Amino acid sequence: MTPVSPQHSPLLAKELAQSHAKRSLERCKILSTLSQMQGGIHREYLSKQHKECNRVTATWMSDAGMQTWQDEVGNLWGRLESTDPNAKRLIIGSHLDTVPNAGAYDGILGVLLAIEVAALAHKLKLELPFHLDVVGFCDEEGTRFATTLIGSKALANEFDPQWLNIEDTSGVTMRQAMLDFGLTPDDFTKAALNKNQLLGYWETHIEQGPVLESVNQALGVVTAIAGAKRAMISLTGQSGHAGTTPMNLRQDSLAGCAELTLAIEQLAKHAKNGEVATVGQIHARPGATNVIAGTTTISLDARAQNDQDLTKLLTAIQSSAEQIAKQRNLTLDWQWTHAADAVACDEKIQQLFASACKFNQQASPALASGAGHDAMAIAAICPVGMLFIRSPGGISHHPAEAVIDDDVTKALSVLYSSLVLYVKELNS
Ligand code: GLV
Ligand code: MN
Ligand code: MN
Repeated sequence: MTPVSPQHSPLLAKELAQSHAKRSLERCKILSTLSQMQGGIHREYLSKQHKECNRVTATWMSDAGMQTWQDEVGNLWGRLESTDPNAKRLIIGSHLDTVPNAGAYDGILGVLLAIEVAALAHKLKLELPFHLDVVGFCDEEGTRFATTLIGSKALANEFDPQWLNIEDTSGVTMRQAMLDFGLTPDDFTKAALNKNQLLGYWETHIEQGPVLESVNQALGVVTAIAGAKRAMISLTGQSGHAGTTPMNLRQDSLAGCAELTLAIEQLAKHAKNGEVATVGQIHARPGATNVIAGTTTISLDARAQNDQDLTKLLTAIQSSAEQIAKQRNLTLDWQWTHAADAVACDEKIQQLFASACKFNQQASPALASGAGHDAMAIAAICPVGMLFIRSPGGISHHPAEAVIDDDVTKALSVLYSSLVLYVKELNS
Protein backbone atom coordinates (compact mmCIF):
# COMPACT_ATOMS: atom_id res chain seq x y z
CA MET A 1 0.00 0.00 0.00
CA THR A 2 1.08 3.57 -0.58
CA PRO A 3 2.35 5.14 2.63
CA VAL A 4 0.86 8.44 3.72
CA SER A 5 3.51 11.07 3.03
CA PRO A 6 5.13 12.68 6.07
CA GLN A 7 3.54 16.06 5.33
CA HIS A 8 0.22 14.45 6.12
CA SER A 9 -0.08 15.55 9.64
CA PRO A 10 -3.35 14.48 11.24
CA LEU A 11 -3.74 18.11 12.28
CA LEU A 12 -5.52 20.53 9.97
CA ALA A 13 -4.38 24.15 9.93
CA LYS A 14 -6.94 26.15 11.93
CA GLU A 15 -7.82 28.57 9.09
CA LEU A 16 -8.30 25.72 6.65
CA ALA A 17 -10.58 23.87 9.07
CA GLN A 18 -12.49 27.09 9.76
CA SER A 19 -13.09 27.87 6.10
CA HIS A 20 -14.31 24.35 5.29
CA ALA A 21 -16.50 24.22 8.40
CA LYS A 22 -17.96 27.61 7.44
CA ARG A 23 -18.76 26.29 3.98
CA SER A 24 -20.56 23.26 5.45
CA LEU A 25 -22.71 25.60 7.57
CA GLU A 26 -23.50 27.83 4.58
CA ARG A 27 -24.58 24.71 2.69
CA CYS A 28 -26.84 23.63 5.57
CA LYS A 29 -28.60 26.98 5.06
CA ILE A 30 -28.87 26.40 1.30
CA LEU A 31 -30.39 22.94 1.76
CA SER A 32 -32.81 24.32 4.35
CA THR A 33 -34.45 26.31 1.52
CA LEU A 34 -35.37 23.05 -0.24
CA SER A 35 -38.53 22.60 1.76
CA GLN A 36 -42.04 21.35 1.07
CA MET A 37 -43.56 23.57 3.79
CA GLN A 38 -44.00 27.35 3.87
CA GLY A 39 -42.01 29.14 6.55
CA GLY A 40 -40.13 26.09 7.81
CA ILE A 41 -37.97 23.12 6.84
CA HIS A 42 -39.55 19.85 5.77
CA ARG A 43 -38.04 17.52 3.21
CA GLU A 44 -39.36 14.01 3.10
CA TYR A 45 -38.41 10.88 1.26
CA LEU A 46 -39.03 10.90 -2.50
CA SER A 47 -40.34 14.46 -2.53
CA LYS A 48 -39.41 16.96 -5.28
CA GLN A 49 -37.22 18.64 -2.68
CA HIS A 50 -35.43 15.34 -1.97
CA LYS A 51 -34.64 15.09 -5.67
CA GLU A 52 -33.34 18.66 -5.81
CA CYS A 53 -31.35 18.15 -2.61
CA ASN A 54 -29.61 15.10 -4.10
CA ARG A 55 -28.88 17.08 -7.27
CA VAL A 56 -27.39 20.08 -5.48
CA THR A 57 -25.41 17.95 -3.01
CA ALA A 58 -24.03 15.85 -5.88
CA THR A 59 -22.58 19.01 -7.46
CA TRP A 60 -20.77 19.74 -4.18
CA MET A 61 -19.47 16.17 -4.12
CA SER A 62 -18.19 16.52 -7.70
CA ASP A 63 -16.50 19.82 -6.83
CA ALA A 64 -14.76 17.98 -3.98
CA GLY A 65 -13.25 15.53 -6.49
CA MET A 66 -15.76 12.70 -6.10
CA GLN A 67 -17.64 10.55 -8.57
CA THR A 68 -21.33 10.59 -7.72
CA TRP A 69 -24.33 8.33 -8.13
CA GLN A 70 -27.77 7.74 -6.69
CA ASP A 71 -28.63 4.18 -5.65
CA GLU A 72 -31.82 2.19 -6.27
CA VAL A 73 -33.70 3.55 -3.22
CA GLY A 74 -32.61 7.20 -3.53
CA ASN A 75 -29.49 7.40 -1.34
CA LEU A 76 -26.91 9.82 -2.74
CA TRP A 77 -23.27 8.68 -3.00
CA GLY A 78 -19.93 10.34 -3.71
CA ARG A 79 -16.64 8.47 -3.99
CA LEU A 80 -13.09 9.68 -3.60
CA GLU A 81 -11.29 6.83 -5.30
CA SER A 82 -8.35 4.93 -3.95
CA THR A 83 -5.46 4.30 -6.36
CA ASP A 84 -5.91 0.63 -5.46
CA PRO A 85 -8.72 -0.67 -7.68
CA ASN A 86 -9.34 -3.59 -5.27
CA ALA A 87 -9.59 -1.32 -2.28
CA LYS A 88 -12.34 -1.75 0.31
CA ARG A 89 -14.74 1.05 1.22
CA LEU A 90 -14.89 3.40 4.20
CA ILE A 91 -18.32 5.07 4.34
CA ILE A 92 -18.88 8.45 6.01
CA GLY A 93 -22.16 10.34 6.05
CA SER A 94 -25.61 10.83 7.53
CA HIS A 95 -29.10 11.65 6.20
CA LEU A 96 -30.57 14.39 4.01
CA ASP A 97 -34.27 14.07 4.92
CA THR A 98 -35.94 16.03 7.72
CA VAL A 99 -38.89 15.89 10.10
CA PRO A 100 -41.69 18.48 9.57
CA ASN A 101 -40.71 21.96 10.82
CA ALA A 102 -37.15 20.77 11.34
CA GLY A 103 -33.89 22.44 12.20
CA ALA A 104 -31.14 22.84 9.61
CA TYR A 105 -28.53 20.44 11.02
CA ASP A 106 -30.02 17.07 12.01
CA GLY A 107 -28.38 14.67 9.56
CA ILE A 108 -27.57 17.34 6.99
CA LEU A 109 -24.47 18.61 8.79
CA GLY A 110 -23.06 15.07 8.98
CA VAL A 111 -23.30 14.71 5.19
CA LEU A 112 -21.83 18.13 4.50
CA LEU A 113 -18.93 17.61 6.93
CA ALA A 114 -18.18 14.28 5.25
CA ILE A 115 -18.00 16.12 1.91
CA GLU A 116 -15.60 18.66 3.45
CA VAL A 117 -13.38 15.85 4.76
CA ALA A 118 -13.30 14.34 1.27
CA ALA A 119 -12.59 17.78 -0.25
CA LEU A 120 -9.67 18.22 2.17
CA ALA A 121 -8.31 14.73 1.49
CA HIS A 122 -8.46 15.53 -2.23
CA LYS A 123 -6.92 19.00 -1.88
CA LEU A 124 -4.14 17.78 0.45
CA LYS A 125 -3.49 14.76 -1.81
CA LEU A 126 -4.01 12.18 0.91
CA GLU A 127 -3.44 8.79 -0.71
CA LEU A 128 -6.23 6.49 0.35
CA PRO A 129 -5.84 2.73 0.77
CA PHE A 130 -9.66 2.54 0.57
CA HIS A 131 -12.42 4.23 -1.41
CA LEU A 132 -13.79 7.07 0.68
CA ASP A 133 -17.55 6.88 0.10
CA VAL A 134 -19.73 9.73 1.31
CA VAL A 135 -23.42 8.87 1.68
CA GLY A 136 -26.48 11.10 2.03
CA PHE A 137 -29.17 8.72 3.27
CA CYS A 138 -32.63 9.21 1.80
CA ASP A 139 -34.90 8.49 4.77
CA GLU A 140 -33.72 8.35 8.35
CA GLU A 141 -36.70 10.10 9.90
CA GLY A 142 -39.50 7.88 8.60
CA THR A 143 -41.79 10.87 8.31
CA ARG A 144 -43.57 9.96 5.11
CA PHE A 145 -44.25 6.21 5.20
CA ALA A 146 -44.41 5.35 8.93
CA THR A 147 -41.30 3.24 8.55
CA THR A 148 -37.81 4.49 9.06
CA LEU A 149 -34.11 4.02 8.16
CA ILE A 150 -35.27 3.06 4.66
CA GLY A 151 -32.00 4.03 2.94
CA SER A 152 -29.64 2.42 5.43
CA LYS A 153 -31.76 -0.72 5.76
CA ALA A 154 -31.63 -1.13 1.99
CA LEU A 155 -27.80 -1.11 2.20
CA ALA A 156 -27.98 -3.78 4.90
CA ASN A 157 -30.32 -5.85 2.67
CA GLU A 158 -33.16 -5.30 5.14
CA PHE A 159 -35.54 -3.39 2.90
CA ASP A 160 -38.90 -5.10 3.38
CA PRO A 161 -40.72 -5.47 0.02
CA GLN A 162 -44.04 -4.93 1.87
CA TRP A 163 -42.96 -1.34 2.46
CA LEU A 164 -43.66 -0.66 -1.23
CA ASN A 165 -47.39 -0.94 -0.45
CA ILE A 166 -47.40 1.54 2.45
CA GLU A 167 -49.37 4.70 1.65
CA ASP A 168 -48.46 8.19 2.75
CA THR A 169 -51.17 10.46 4.20
CA SER A 170 -52.22 11.44 0.65
CA GLY A 171 -52.75 7.80 -0.33
CA VAL A 172 -49.59 7.57 -2.49
CA THR A 173 -47.82 4.23 -2.11
CA MET A 174 -44.07 4.04 -1.69
CA ARG A 175 -43.98 2.13 -4.98
CA GLN A 176 -45.71 4.99 -6.81
CA ALA A 177 -43.56 7.61 -5.10
CA MET A 178 -40.42 5.74 -6.18
CA LEU A 179 -41.67 5.61 -9.75
CA ASP A 180 -42.49 9.34 -9.69
CA PHE A 181 -38.97 9.99 -8.37
CA GLY A 182 -37.49 8.06 -11.31
CA LEU A 183 -36.54 4.89 -9.42
CA THR A 184 -37.40 1.27 -10.24
CA PRO A 185 -39.04 0.01 -7.02
CA ASP A 186 -38.38 -3.70 -7.57
CA ASP A 187 -34.65 -3.02 -7.93
CA PHE A 188 -34.28 -2.23 -4.22
CA THR A 189 -32.11 -5.34 -3.60
CA LYS A 190 -29.42 -3.82 -5.83
CA ALA A 191 -28.82 -1.13 -3.21
CA ALA A 192 -27.54 -3.78 -0.75
CA LEU A 193 -23.82 -3.65 -0.04
CA ASN A 194 -21.34 -6.53 0.06
CA LYS A 195 -20.17 -6.53 3.65
CA ASN A 196 -16.83 -8.09 2.69
CA GLN A 197 -15.94 -4.83 0.95
CA LEU A 198 -16.69 -2.60 3.94
CA LEU A 199 -14.19 -1.27 6.47
CA GLY A 200 -16.64 0.73 8.51
CA TYR A 201 -19.20 3.52 8.70
CA TRP A 202 -18.54 6.83 10.47
CA GLU A 203 -21.29 9.36 11.19
CA THR A 204 -20.99 12.85 12.60
CA HIS A 205 -24.27 14.17 14.02
CA ILE A 206 -25.53 16.85 16.35
CA GLU A 207 -26.20 15.37 19.79
CA GLN A 208 -29.88 16.47 19.82
CA GLY A 209 -29.78 16.39 23.63
CA PRO A 210 -28.27 18.32 26.56
CA VAL A 211 -25.41 16.07 27.72
CA LEU A 212 -22.39 17.71 26.01
CA GLU A 213 -23.62 21.16 26.89
CA SER A 214 -23.99 20.13 30.53
CA VAL A 215 -20.32 19.06 30.67
CA ASN A 216 -19.25 22.08 28.63
CA GLN A 217 -17.75 20.08 25.78
CA ALA A 218 -17.95 20.57 22.02
CA LEU A 219 -17.67 16.91 20.99
CA GLY A 220 -18.45 13.45 22.31
CA VAL A 221 -17.82 9.88 21.22
CA VAL A 222 -20.91 7.69 21.04
CA THR A 223 -20.80 4.35 22.85
CA ALA A 224 -24.21 2.94 21.85
CA ILE A 225 -27.48 3.88 20.18
CA ALA A 226 -30.76 3.23 21.98
CA GLY A 227 -33.06 0.55 20.60
CA ALA A 228 -36.42 1.76 19.32
CA LYS A 229 -39.78 0.37 18.33
CA ARG A 230 -42.64 2.20 16.65
CA ALA A 231 -46.27 1.21 16.18
CA MET A 232 -49.56 2.65 14.96
CA ILE A 233 -52.29 1.78 17.47
CA SER A 234 -55.97 2.05 16.53
CA LEU A 235 -59.02 1.86 18.76
CA THR A 236 -62.37 1.39 17.06
CA GLY A 237 -65.73 1.97 18.71
CA GLN A 238 -68.91 3.44 17.33
CA SER A 239 -69.17 6.70 15.48
CA GLY A 240 -72.34 8.57 16.40
CA HIS A 241 -74.23 11.83 16.98
CA ALA A 242 -72.54 14.10 19.54
CA GLY A 243 -75.90 15.50 20.66
CA THR A 244 -78.08 12.43 20.90
CA THR A 245 -75.83 9.66 22.21
CA PRO A 246 -75.89 9.55 26.04
CA MET A 247 -72.48 9.47 27.70
CA ASN A 248 -72.98 5.99 29.14
CA LEU A 249 -73.84 4.51 25.74
CA ARG A 250 -70.75 5.72 23.89
CA GLN A 251 -67.83 3.80 22.43
CA ASP A 252 -65.60 6.81 21.93
CA SER A 253 -62.30 5.81 20.29
CA LEU A 254 -60.73 9.26 20.78
CA ALA A 255 -61.35 9.23 24.52
CA GLY A 256 -59.86 5.71 24.59
CA CYS A 257 -56.73 6.88 22.76
CA ALA A 258 -56.45 9.87 25.10
CA GLU A 259 -56.54 7.54 28.11
CA LEU A 260 -53.98 5.27 26.48
CA THR A 261 -51.70 8.24 25.68
CA LEU A 262 -51.64 9.23 29.34
CA ALA A 263 -51.08 5.61 30.41
CA ILE A 264 -48.08 5.40 28.02
CA GLU A 265 -46.65 8.57 29.54
CA GLN A 266 -47.01 7.21 33.08
CA LEU A 267 -45.52 3.80 32.24
CA ALA A 268 -42.43 5.40 30.66
CA LYS A 269 -42.10 7.90 33.53
CA HIS A 270 -42.02 5.06 36.04
CA ALA A 271 -39.56 2.91 34.07
CA LYS A 272 -36.22 2.62 35.82
CA ASN A 273 -33.45 3.00 33.22
CA GLY A 274 -34.23 6.15 31.28
CA GLU A 275 -36.72 4.50 28.92
CA VAL A 276 -38.83 6.95 26.89
CA ALA A 277 -42.16 6.63 25.06
CA THR A 278 -43.90 9.21 22.89
CA VAL A 279 -47.30 9.55 21.25
CA GLY A 280 -46.61 12.13 18.55
CA GLN A 281 -49.56 11.68 16.20
CA ILE A 282 -53.29 11.30 16.66
CA HIS A 283 -55.80 10.84 13.88
CA ALA A 284 -59.50 10.71 14.76
CA ARG A 285 -62.09 9.64 12.19
CA PRO A 286 -64.42 10.81 10.80
CA GLY A 287 -62.96 13.93 12.42
CA ALA A 288 -65.91 16.30 12.91
CA THR A 289 -66.79 18.46 15.92
CA ASN A 290 -70.28 17.00 16.26
CA VAL A 291 -69.43 13.34 15.62
CA ILE A 292 -68.11 10.83 18.18
CA ALA A 293 -64.86 9.45 16.71
CA GLY A 294 -65.44 5.89 15.51
CA THR A 295 -61.77 5.04 14.96
CA THR A 296 -58.75 6.81 16.34
CA THR A 297 -55.12 5.98 15.59
CA ILE A 298 -52.11 7.08 17.60
CA SER A 299 -48.42 6.60 16.93
CA LEU A 300 -46.10 5.11 19.53
CA ASP A 301 -42.33 5.57 19.61
CA ALA A 302 -40.55 3.81 22.52
CA ARG A 303 -36.82 3.62 23.19
CA ALA A 304 -34.37 2.18 25.71
CA GLN A 305 -30.64 1.66 26.05
CA ASN A 306 -31.06 -2.10 26.19
CA ASP A 307 -33.48 -4.45 24.52
CA GLN A 308 -34.80 -6.11 27.72
CA ASP A 309 -35.90 -2.74 29.14
CA LEU A 310 -37.63 -1.89 25.87
CA THR A 311 -39.48 -5.22 25.77
CA LYS A 312 -40.59 -4.77 29.38
CA LEU A 313 -41.95 -1.28 28.71
CA LEU A 314 -43.74 -2.36 25.53
CA THR A 315 -45.31 -5.37 27.24
CA ALA A 316 -46.70 -3.04 29.91
CA ILE A 317 -48.02 -0.62 27.27
CA GLN A 318 -49.67 -3.43 25.32
CA SER A 319 -51.46 -4.82 28.38
CA SER A 320 -52.61 -1.33 29.31
CA ALA A 321 -53.99 -0.87 25.77
CA GLU A 322 -55.85 -4.19 26.02
CA GLN A 323 -57.33 -3.21 29.38
CA ILE A 324 -58.49 0.22 28.15
CA ALA A 325 -60.02 -1.32 25.03
CA LYS A 326 -61.87 -3.90 27.13
CA GLN A 327 -63.19 -1.38 29.67
CA ARG A 328 -64.41 0.97 26.93
CA ASN A 329 -65.75 -1.75 24.65
CA LEU A 330 -63.37 -0.82 21.83
CA THR A 331 -61.45 -2.99 19.37
CA LEU A 332 -57.69 -2.73 19.47
CA ASP A 333 -55.50 -2.97 16.38
CA TRP A 334 -51.71 -2.79 16.77
CA GLN A 335 -49.39 -2.45 13.72
CA TRP A 336 -45.65 -2.51 14.29
CA THR A 337 -43.95 -0.11 11.87
CA HIS A 338 -40.32 -0.08 12.99
CA ALA A 339 -37.96 -2.07 15.18
CA ALA A 340 -34.28 -1.44 15.73
CA ASP A 341 -32.26 -3.17 18.40
CA ALA A 342 -29.92 -1.17 20.61
CA VAL A 343 -26.53 -1.05 18.88
CA ALA A 344 -23.04 -0.77 20.37
CA CYS A 345 -20.56 1.44 18.51
CA ASP A 346 -17.32 -0.29 17.53
CA GLU A 347 -14.65 -0.06 20.27
CA LYS A 348 -11.81 0.52 17.79
CA ILE A 349 -13.62 3.38 16.08
CA GLN A 350 -14.41 4.89 19.49
CA GLN A 351 -10.68 4.72 20.33
CA LEU A 352 -9.76 6.22 16.97
CA PHE A 353 -12.14 9.17 17.48
CA ALA A 354 -10.84 9.62 21.04
CA SER A 355 -7.20 9.68 19.77
CA ALA A 356 -8.17 12.16 17.06
CA CYS A 357 -9.79 14.35 19.73
CA LYS A 358 -6.58 14.16 21.79
CA PHE A 359 -4.49 15.25 18.77
CA ASN A 360 -6.75 18.28 18.57
CA GLN A 361 -6.55 18.92 22.31
CA GLN A 362 -10.20 18.11 22.65
CA ALA A 363 -11.78 16.12 25.43
CA SER A 364 -13.79 13.15 24.19
CA PRO A 365 -16.54 12.38 26.68
CA ALA A 366 -18.33 9.11 25.97
CA LEU A 367 -22.12 9.21 25.71
CA ALA A 368 -25.00 7.08 24.49
CA SER A 369 -27.42 8.24 21.81
CA GLY A 370 -31.11 8.40 22.64
CA ALA A 371 -31.91 9.36 19.04
CA GLY A 372 -31.96 6.82 16.25
CA HIS A 373 -29.41 6.98 13.44
CA ASP A 374 -28.61 5.24 10.17
CA ALA A 375 -25.59 3.73 11.96
CA MET A 376 -28.07 1.38 13.70
CA ALA A 377 -28.98 -0.26 10.41
CA ILE A 378 -25.44 -0.22 9.02
CA ALA A 379 -24.12 -1.97 12.16
CA ALA A 380 -25.56 -5.19 10.68
CA ILE A 381 -22.94 -5.11 7.91
CA CYS A 382 -19.86 -3.33 9.30
CA PRO A 383 -18.37 -1.65 12.39
CA VAL A 384 -19.93 1.77 13.07
CA GLY A 385 -18.81 4.84 15.00
CA MET A 386 -20.43 8.20 15.74
CA LEU A 387 -19.04 11.58 16.74
CA PHE A 388 -21.50 13.95 18.40
CA ILE A 389 -21.45 17.75 18.24
CA ARG A 390 -22.92 19.77 21.11
CA SER A 391 -26.55 20.92 20.63
CA PRO A 392 -27.14 24.30 22.30
CA GLY A 393 -30.10 23.97 24.67
CA GLY A 394 -30.30 20.29 23.71
CA ILE A 395 -32.84 21.37 21.10
CA SER A 396 -33.53 19.31 17.98
CA HIS A 397 -36.42 18.38 15.68
CA HIS A 398 -37.33 22.04 16.02
CA PRO A 399 -36.52 25.22 14.02
CA ALA A 400 -34.43 26.48 16.96
CA GLU A 401 -31.96 23.61 16.49
CA ALA A 402 -28.47 25.18 16.44
CA VAL A 403 -24.74 24.56 16.47
CA ILE A 404 -21.77 26.65 17.60
CA ASP A 405 -19.54 27.49 14.63
CA ASP A 406 -16.35 26.70 16.53
CA ASP A 407 -17.73 23.26 17.53
CA VAL A 408 -18.26 22.49 13.85
CA THR A 409 -14.64 23.46 13.09
CA LYS A 410 -13.53 21.14 15.88
CA ALA A 411 -15.68 18.30 14.55
CA LEU A 412 -14.26 18.71 11.06
CA SER A 413 -10.69 18.75 12.42
CA VAL A 414 -11.32 15.61 14.47
CA LEU A 415 -12.97 13.82 11.56
CA TYR A 416 -10.04 14.69 9.28
CA SER A 417 -7.53 13.60 11.94
CA SER A 418 -9.43 10.32 12.32
CA LEU A 419 -9.13 9.74 8.60
CA VAL A 420 -5.37 10.40 8.51
CA LEU A 421 -4.76 8.30 11.63
CA TYR A 422 -6.81 5.48 10.13
CA VAL A 423 -4.86 5.62 6.85
CA LYS A 424 -1.60 5.52 8.80
CA GLU A 425 -2.87 2.57 10.86
CA LEU A 426 -3.85 0.60 7.74
CA ASN A 427 -0.51 1.35 6.10
CA SER A 428 1.62 0.43 9.11
C1 GLV B 1 -34.52 10.26 14.47
O1 GLV B 1 -34.24 11.44 14.48
C2 GLV B 1 -35.11 9.67 15.62
O2 GLV B 1 -34.38 9.33 16.56
O3 GLV B 1 -36.34 9.60 15.64
MN1 MN C 1 -30.73 12.51 12.46
MN1 MN D 1 -33.98 13.45 13.32
